[in-house]
Amino acid sequence: MRFSTIIPLALAAAPAVVSAAGSLGFALGDKKTDGSCKFQADWAADLKAISTVQSSKIVRTYSASECNTAKEILPAAKAAGFKVILGVWPDYDDSLAKDEAALIKYTPDYKDQVYAITVGSETMYRGNFTGPELLQRINKIKKAVPGFKVGTADSWNKYQDGTADALITGGVDILLANGFSYWQGQTDSNATASFFDDIMQAFGHIQQVSGKVDGGIELWVGETGWPTDGSKYQAAVPSLEGAKNYWKKAICGITAWGVNVFYFEAFDEPWKPKSIGQDGSVADETHWGAWNADRTPKFSMEC
Ligand SMILES: *[C@@H]1O[C@H](CO)[C@@H](O)[C@H](O)[C@H]1NC(C)=O
Ligand SMILES: *[C@@H]1O[C@H](CO)[C@@H](O)[C@H](O)[C@H]1NC(C)=O
Repeated sequence: MRFSTIIPLALAAAPAVVSAAGSLGFALGDKKTDGSCKFQADWAADLKAISTVQSSKIVRTYSASECNTAKEILPAAKAAGFKVILGVWPDYDDSLAKDEAALIKYTPDYKDQVYAITVGSETMYRGNFTGPELLQRINKIKKAVPGFKVGTADSWNKYQDGTADALITGGVDILLANGFSYWQGQTDSNATASFFDDIMQAFGHIQQVSGKVDGGIELWVGETGWPTDGSKYQAAVPSLEGAKNYWKKAICGITAWGVNVFYFEAFDEPWKPKSIGQDGSVADETHWGAWNADRTPKFSMEC
């Protein structure tokens, strides 16, 4: 896929420019509905449900050591023919060390299952690290487990505004850009336009700074989605209809255009505590799944 700089929004309506479709993956939490840790059989059941959608064969997780995720998910992924992007939580020295140890211990036997490793989830967006500080942690992991693609996942605007430039010029292999029209308070009808615009700005900036469109850093949308229930956020209203529309327009549209996407998220997570949105309002994050917590699909995920 080629984004020379910033692609005009009008192109979003022209998926015909593309040869190969982008890959579709899902973001997975590591807890069961009651908030306890998933084990291998739970991950296996998750992957079984996900494999029914198009030809989806890739998922991403957030911490290799929390809930023994690397240990428990990798054998399930191998049995199901899935690949996994494993996460590292670098926010604390302790979590970084634990995730690093889990990667060293569990990845060697599952080289074909580990698609890549992301160090950090929105750490620049949350103000935990500057680009150079995060790069240092990415390089630490790269050295600890050689042979894997390593990068990070962050909000689209942290790529667009130059915060991540040190990563782009510093040799990372893969970058995931998250984009939520919902958290930008967009209406259902403007959600897809807003999403395309955000992602193109992020990818455009990365390609401009790296000077490469092909053979450069591998790019994915790391998280995007629309909640089926929960709290409103400015003009954004959660609804099943909204999620269905978002799937058809945003997810089907951007993958047809050749962009790789992780949908956030696969399954509802009813255990999740309420969080506070950027504007201070209380946000319910328990209904973002494409599937209900019991792994029944909420809508058709065909394109
Ligand atoms: C860093 O990350 C943790 C969560 O992992 C969070 O509690 C903290 O507030 C973050 N922000 C800063 C500025 O350290
Ligand atoms: C709709 O999305 C576009 C693209 O991001 C944006 O420029 C525009 O301001 C949005 N419209 C509204 C009403 O927010």
